[in-house]
Amino acid sequence: DSPGWLHGKRVLVTAGPTREKIDPVRYFTNPSSGKMGFALAEEAARLGATVTLVAGPVQLETPAGVNRIDVTTAEEMYQAVLANNKTQDIVIKSAAVADYRPAVTYDKKMKKQPGEYVVEMERTKDILKKLGEEKERQFLVGFAAETDTPVRYGKEKLEKKNLDAIVINNVAAEGAGFGHDTNRAVYINHKFEETELPMMTKKQLAQTIFNQIKLDWNHE
Ligand code: PMT
Repeated sequence: DSPGWLHGKRVLVTAGPTREKIDPVRYFTNPSSGKMGFALAEEAARLGATVTLVAGPVQLETPAGVNRIDVTTAEEMYQAVLANNKTQDIVIKSAAVADYRPAVTYDKKMKKQPGEYVVEMERTKDILKKLGEEKERQFLVGFAAETDTPVRYGKEKLEKKNLDAIVINNVAAEGAGFGHDTNRAVYINHKFEETELPMMTKKQLAQTIFNQIKLDWNHE
């Protein structure tokens, strides 16, 4: 790789989970640690980019030189990403955004009741889809966390959401996906060319993803 090739470019990365509250003491979330997204932000900064990192609730240090925006919910992530989207050259959506949130949020702690309790969930906004619709010259990369036929689902997302590339991780594979320091992924570009990547650290995967982006940049 050539350090500095992203000099003068703006890169936005999303990382971590979102947290969707039911009441002040209960919420829905997922096991994303933010490691994948933070590795991507760190690598983008190392390559010279001006980096904005929109992070859900995670326990990680901000990489040097990175401008971090902390959010909690999918709605807050949507607002933060959309407010910064227009000026970005590359956007990478590695966050694990909740697809559903409780339809009602209580201001006070719900009391335990006898019997079962059903939580009604409503859809959150699809940030990646919106970015695909708004995209002009930007290079837009989605992630997909799948547990079966990962490549087929990934290709569907690539096409439907107007992405330039998608990184698919089979989160059911050993040592890949949520929480680990390592990951195993398939990178698919706009021509549906698949690059199957071996198990590597998330830092190495971040470097590999930017190498792939460099190859696919200005692909018209
Ligand atoms: O954080 P780590 O512990 O390091 O784990 C990394 C990871 C497994 C979270 C990461 O590598 C990963 O796969 N991220 C995407 C997880 C995910 O939510 O996948 P998905 O198939 O549900 O979503 C597909 C894409 O749509 C993602 O780019 C996601 O950011 C985006 N999305 C999803 C829902 C939503 N409402 N808005 C979105 O933009």
